[in-house]
Amino acid sequence: MSEILREARSYETEVGRKIKAHERPDFHLTPRVGWMNDPNGFIFYKGEYHLFYQYYPYKCMWGPMHWGHAVSSDLLHWSYLPAALAPDEVYDHAGCFSGSAIALPDGRLMLMYTGVRKEETADGEAADIQTQCLAFGDGTEFVKYEGNPVLNASVLPEGGSRKDFRDPKIWQEKDGTYCCVIGNRSSDGSGQILLFTSADGIVWKMKSILASNRNRYGKMWECPDFFELDGKWVLLTSPQDMLIDGNNYHSGNGTLCLTGIYDKENGRFAEEKNQPIDSGLDFYATQTTLAPDGRRIMIGWMQNWDSVSLRMPDAKWFGQMSLPRELSLKDGVLIQKPVCEIDACRTNEVIYENERISGRKSFPELNGRKADIELTVNFKDGEGAGTGEAQKDESDREYACRRFEFRFAEDSCYYSSISYTTEDSMLRIDRTFSGSRRDVIHHRKCRTPLQNGILKLRIILDLYSVEVFVNDGSQTVSAVLYTDPSANQISFSADGEAVIDVRKYNLTADE
Ligand code: FRU
Repeated sequence: MSEILREARSYETEVGRKIKAHERPDFHLTPRVGWMNDPNGFIFYKGEYHLFYQYYPYKCMWGPMHWGHAVSSDLLHWSYLPAALAPDEVYDHAGCFSGSAIALPDGRLMLMYTGVRKEETADGEAADIQTQCLAFGDGTEFVKYEGNPVLNASVLPEGGSRKDFRDPKIWQEKDGTYCCVIGNRSSDGSGQILLFTSADGIVWKMKSILASNRNRYGKMWECPDFFELDGKWVLLTSPQDMLIDGNNYHSGNGTLCLTGIYDKENGRFAEEKNQPIDSGLDFYATQTTLAPDGRRIMIGWMQNWDSVSLRMPDAKWFGQMSLPRELSLKDGVLIQKPVCEIDACRTNEVIYENERISGRKSFPELNGRKADIELTVNFKDGEGAGTGEAQKDESDREYACRRFEFRFAEDSCYYSSISYTTEDSMLRIDRTFSGSRRDVIHHRKCRTPLQNGILKLRIILDLYSVEVFVNDGSQTVSAVLYTDPSANQISFSADGEAVIDVRKYNLTADE
């Protein structure tokens, strides 16, 4: 083991021990110590889920990337394993960037990641050069392949950038062929996804340019993932430098889900439909894996590069993963649901039905910062709601409620909210009053049609975050908030009158 890895391991053991369980969320993985970004190497291997992550143990800041490591039997309760990779070779001394994992026929786990090294350019500047590397192991200890890197600039298509060539996502086809998709920047300055194939996972050749951004969705495409889902193929990626586009995509680092048809023979993906993966404030760099029962499970980094200055001042960790989410496709729409394993963590059911909200209202026992809340809001259009009459076009309706708001993490000083206005069909998340002392983006909105005058929300709170699954998961809205945990009230309000059903559970970590 290299000195750099040994040092990282002893540091994380020593300093990680000082972080108490109550200083972390219960179900969202945080770094053992220091900084975390993207999920890496997400896989079910030898009876448990492994999740690696981009990791800089020594500070709550991005630095030369290591791979942190955790395991779980239910995707919700994670235990730390020692850091898996450190930037300790000539070809990755500037960082072991994102990548993925696959189990080999001989039982070993293979990690494929991007090695970054600094190279002096002709004009005397230092450039980051990115190549693809392998490491083999037993699930805890990994040895880097002596033939690294296995993919370098020589394989790139004409105009492909050596500086932006990263984030390999590997899978195996039924015939045994290994495939991987890698993000790259083409000569037009925007992203392209390259497809590579290999018979043994070690010797790779380029098959095709699977998809090209052509400057439509941001610039470089990071962290690609490509898989079949309910009869279509899905390309997930996280574009940098997005431009705001209507109410769909926001500026900065965003997420993109393209669905379409995959011509395996030629390695081409024909796009049919695009959508953001998440419409909240904090979600990026997704990765999926297949559960043993066939579920496609996605996890993302629940942060946004543009707002990483929003943090707890004294925390010894920074960065959270999202909840793992089960994916499906319905009428071309990506559906996301929290993994069903979370049902076993629900306790203390509290139900209120048919409650009329007019003005602000709260309910006994409806509070908490670790909670799973199912909320149905009926905006009522008088006689029509819930009857055959309700089938008429949503745009013709006159609702009894013009604006509805759900507040959480609330006390006399602070709150965050999810609200909905019928006039423009906009769902909004707002953490302006969450106690943030940083002037970063705190609100965002997305267009969300009501269904027969009804909005369905499943809201999951886990100490420092909120994830909202809208209308049975057809949209999601995720955000972190660092409000003091003592702010744990919940309230509802309506301009006009709404009728709500709410079912709330505490989420309890004890198994
Ligand atoms: C995405 C990303 C990846 C890269 C990693 C570096 O958040 O920029 O493209 O591999 O983070 O930490």
